[in-house]
Amino acid sequence: MVPHHIAIVMDGNGRWATRRLLPRLAGHRQGMESLRRCIRACAERGVAVLTVFAFSSENWNRPAEEVSGLMDLLAGALTREVPQLVADGVRVHFVGAREGLSDKVRQGLAQAEQATAANSRLILNICFNYGGRWDIAQAAARLAQQGEAITEASLGRALALAHVPDPDLLIRTGGELRLSNFLLWQAAYTELYFCDTLWPDFDEAALDEALADYVRRERRFGRTSEQLAQGAQPEAV
Ligand code: FPP
Repeated sequence: MVPHHIAIVMDGNGRWATRRLLPRLAGHRQGMESLRRCIRACAERGVAVLTVFAFSSENWNRPAEEVSGLMDLLAGALTREVPQLVADGVRVHFVGAREGLSDKVRQGLAQAEQATAANSRLILNICFNYGGRWDIAQAAARLAQQGEAITEASLGRALALAHVPDPDLLIRTGGELRLSNFLLWQAAYTELYFCDTLWPDFDEAALDEALADYVRRERRFGRTSEQLAQGAQPEAV
């Protein structure tokens, strides 16, 4: 079965560039190409939601030149890519703190969300200036401000990804085995898939390998194999 929601940590752009004696930004530009290919491939395979980690709360610590390059890449993509996303039926959501982003980027994000709002073939969540801890803290702060009790259900509704179900499969490219503050709450029952492929090289075949691996997993959500065999519904509890 194809996962309904795939989340991806697109790691390895810098190493891809360094191996070719190119500046790190060249890797991010190639990473953008890879993202474009991945969006199309996910839509073709019937994936309903794709969530990607494009810029973390911690990425501000990178050299200023790389940070401004990533901002420019995003700003350029917002104007260039939107018509194709509309044509492909992709609805874009930007997930993360808007504070700290330039007015130009902020306006671009809002315009891209507006321009794609009527689409429903694939929901694309681009996590930008995002961190899992930031998300949990902002949700809790909002509930506290509204005087609402903090429960798993209310917190879940206040999180930045409340408009989609939790991811079924989380892919991390680039060989590192960690979550790096991505979807800490939402990944509680997500199947994790790590591969050594650097993000710019992650093509349709690599995606299909991850999907084939996912099909072989048994998702128990805390139940036993025997319970599932007896027909218990394998849903998150
Ligand atoms: C991690 O690779 C990648 C990022 C921090 C940026 C991801 C961005 C893209 C794939 C381009 C799409 C961008 C936007 C703005 C939509 P790394 O630089 O940590 O690679 P390394 O581990 O090899 O150094």
